[in-house]
Amino acid sequence: MALYKNTMKSFSLSNIRERFPIFSQHPGLVYLDNAATTQRVDTMIEAMDTFYHKQNATVHRGVYELSATASQSFEACRTKVADFIGATSPGNIAFTKGTTESINIVASSFLRRKLRPGDNVVVSIMEHHANFIPWQMLCREVGAELRIIPISGNGDLDLGALEPLLDNRTRLVAITHISNLLGTFNPIEEVIALAHAKGVPVLIDAAQSGALYPMDVTQVDCDFLAFSGHKAFGPFGIGVLYTRQELKADIHPYTYGGGIVQNVMLDVTDFKPYPYNLDAGTPNIPGVIGLSAAIDFTRDLDRKACVEHVQGLSHLCRNELKRINGVKVLGEPLKTGGIVSFYIDDIHPHDVASFLDEDHIAVRAGVHCAQPLLDHLDVAATVRASFSIYNTKEEVEHLVHAVKELIKFWR
Ligand SMILES: Cc1ncc(COP(=O)(O)O)c(C=O)c1O
Repeated sequence: MALYKNTMKSFSLSNIRERFPIFSQHPGLVYLDNAATTQRVDTMIEAMDTFYHKQNATVHRGVYELSATASQSFEACRTKVADFIGATSPGNIAFTKGTTESINIVASSFLRRKLRPGDNVVVSIMEHHANFIPWQMLCREVGAELRIIPISGNGDLDLGALEPLLDNRTRLVAITHISNLLGTFNPIEEVIALAHAKGVPVLIDAAQSGALYPMDVTQVDCDFLAFSGHKAFGPFGIGVLYTRQELKADIHPYTYGGGIVQNVMLDVTDFKPYPYNLDAGTPNIPGVIGLSAAIDFTRDLDRKACVEHVQGLSHLCRNELKRINGVKVLGEPLKTGGIVSFYIDDIHPHDVASFLDEDHIAVRAGVHCAQPLLDHLDVAATVRASFSIYNTKEEVEHLVHAVKELIKFWR
């Protein structure tokens, strides 16, 4: 399958795999933990290496050439990210440490000043802790209510339950685009339309969709969007917060220090506007350079073909696992990303993951930072297989075979 837009390059699945150096270091590796972090693409590693070898300087503070070049590359990435997600201006894009920090910024620097006792915030039961705890903590602190959108039996968002949760005291809806446990692909356009009809802003947690699922923030009309570089073939420690133009002035500095100020007087400080008011201290410059290279790589992909490939693998995995006696696969969402969670009767998920590791299959076991959802499903923990563009049908078959072998061995 050609996964690149530019067919002149005639890159296929195997060519794509070659772009990820980890696989030449570990030829037998079956990497199925992409929901935790993807592997790194070669051009991203090279870009960061080149920065450190040849361009190393900090940004925005030096007038010398190296610093000016670093500043240009840094700001060019802001423009690139804006373009990548359909934002109208680079001024909507703030660099953060990752999705978690982006969400915490919206909680602390936006909502904390607006939320009053008796107000409410709406999230879904399928949120990652990163998009759950900040709202829970804020609501507890202020005396506001955290309202939860339930899911249907198959793991889809219960959209019909959202409208009654929204009222004139709702201050924000925060929802994941793709569930990191069930793989459920949420109908965010509908969620946004319902919330906006009541004048409520919406934050989209795009941690699981940022890499491959084309997102146009202007078209979907969200107010905030968060994603992480490391889940999108980019570096650790860098993420993005998109904020709608009209709400930028309501985002206040998150941490204080150098780089975010206009004027510091003895009694008061004037801050730069968003997004520059979030860059206190020296920013993660190589992270931004690496993110830029990762976005270049992703933009060259035929993302429709990539999504079909990844969804095809997860369907195959889900269907094959379901056929095995003693294996329970969580959820049957109508539309899924490349994530499959399962457990095996009487075998702890950590034992399953250790057994699979002996076969060089890397999967995650545990609660996946989604404890409210697991509690709701009355499941203690699961094994999660998550797929990306470099995974193959043979790898799914390898996983399924290993699970069958484990059950034979265990019983
Ligand atoms: C849906 C979702 N939201 C948020 C996060 C947090 O991302 P990060 O650890 O990069 O901040 C994750 C990470 O797994 C996730 O899956």
